[in-house]
Amino acid sequence: MKRILLIHSSLFGDDSASTGIAQSLVERLLREHPGSKVTTLDLAREALPHLAAEEFNSWLVPEEQRDAGQRSLAVISDRLIDQLMSHDVLILAVPMYNLGIPSTLKVWIDRVSRAGKTFAYTSDGPKGLVRGMQAYLVLSRGGLYRGTPLDTQTGYLTSVLGLMGITDVETIFAEGLNMGGDTRQKSIDAAMAKVRELPVNEHEEYGYAAA
Ligand SMILES: Cc1cc2nc3c(=O)[nH]c(=O)nc-3n(C[C@H](O)[C@H](O)[C@H](O)COP(=O)(O)O)c2cc1C
Repeated sequence: MKRILLIHSSLFGDDSASTGIAQSLVERLLREHPGSKVTTLDLAREALPHLAAEEFNSWLVPEEQRDAGQRSLAVISDRLIDQLMSHDVLILAVPMYNLGIPSTLKVWIDRVSRAGKTFAYTSDGPKGLVRGMQAYLVLSRGGLYRGTPLDTQTGYLTSVLGLMGITDVETIFAEGLNMGGDTRQKSIDAAMAKVRELPVNEHEEYGYAAA
């Protein structure tokens, strides 16, 4: 039984390639792990606000000393972290926007990648506090970027997940979606084939490490 957190960020709703491919991945995982639970977050439909100074500063105030305003701001990030931590599979469906990730996904990351909560600064550098989580990245693009310096998404997402301790990351690409001809369909078909063939790993222990 898996607890799957599926995060969409495409502006194209049901026509989105990343949404469709990620959905197929969920169906595959549900077949492999009957009884698994899925939570879906659509950041394009329910966008979080940018992380502004007041909200960030509320995290720095010890919990018992926060006033009502600080409590209501700190709880936004606390709840997203609790949500992440209560799952053991994370699927990020990520279209490329202006050579980067959607800004709606960035603000989610700004709230879950949090010192003292999901990673800790140590004398050896940052240490991830999330254990045993499997992540899948479904990366869709209009053009072709894989393996080039313009693929800013893969390195960034792998690094920021790694910072939190999420190092088991599988990547599925759907590229060239806006290049005309049959490129789009072929690319989506290849991504769907990869979803069917992916090894589905077992993870022993899931949870939090001590800060
Ligand atoms: C605001 C916006 C910015 C985009 N920027 C890029 C880009 O920088 N590079 C690219 O290859 N495609 C870009 N695209 C095209 C999308 O990546 C492409 O349409 C992709 O299929 C979207 O994925 P989805 O179908 O999963 O939503 C952009 C699309 C939008 C709406």
